[in-house]
Amino acid sequence: MLHTLTLNGVPLPYRDEGHGPPVLLFHAFPLHGEAFMKQVKALSDRYRFILPDVRGLGRGAPPSGPTEMALIARDALALLDALNVESVVVGGVSMGGYASMALLREDPGRVRGLVLVDTQATADDEAGRARREASAQEALREGPEAFVRTMLPRLVAAGPESDVGQEVAALIRAASPEGLAAAQRGMALRPDSKDILARYAGPALIVVGEKDAITPVDKARQMADLISGARLEIIPDAAHLPNQEQPDAFNAVLDRFLSGL
Ligand code: MLT
Repeated sequence: MLHTLTLNGVPLPYRDEGHGPPVLLFHAFPLHGEAFMKQVKALSDRYRFILPDVRGLGRGAPPSGPTEMALIARDALALLDALNVESVVVGGVSMGGYASMALLREDPGRVRGLVLVDTQATADDEAGRARREASAQEALREGPEAFVRTMLPRLVAAGPESDVGQEVAALIRAASPEGLAAAQRGMALRPDSKDILARYAGPALIVVGEKDAITPVDKARQMADLISGARLEIIPDAAHLPNQEQPDAFNAVLDRFLSGL
């Protein structure tokens, strides 16, 4: 069920599902927390999933400035405080991975394990930042439909017309134009996080879809090489959203990691 708490001055919608050790998961851009419902369905009898919507995406209130990754991390830390959750496995898909690394930078003592899915530790270069600004302006002109048209074909290997493609389209359509633009501008500002991963000494799982062209396998290998003892898992027949595209394979990998902590 969807809850809302006002934290850091804004309403933060989140789901809190299941019983067991807590696992905080950040969704990818431009989706929302229900992107993880296939994990909730399969694993919530063993783990407690805490699933916030990033500001301006999903049911989150449109932000006033760029949604910086540190801001997403601070919202989540405030949520954990409000829920009395001390120590937690933190993870996320793509932008959710950037937010996970930001949380690790803000409060490393809170992180019991790290799960990075189809993401990267590097910051944008100048050309990447310019592309994000163009995309932010397109979002303000056209709203989420622009991302259904341009981004969805690269998100899922089965294509936009597949069942999973349609599920992802529905998640994208929940975002506000301002929220989309703010998230793109926030991602453009994110720092390089290789130093954070190199300092991290806890357990880590790195997952990537073998067909991901947005954050490809070599980006995952780079992160795995930075964290001593990290496990790298490549999910066949998946692109950028393996938890939604190949939930059985993804859930098996996640469960193996979580049950070993
Ligand atoms: C995402 O899926 O969250 C985005 O592709 C991340 C990005 O644009 O860098």
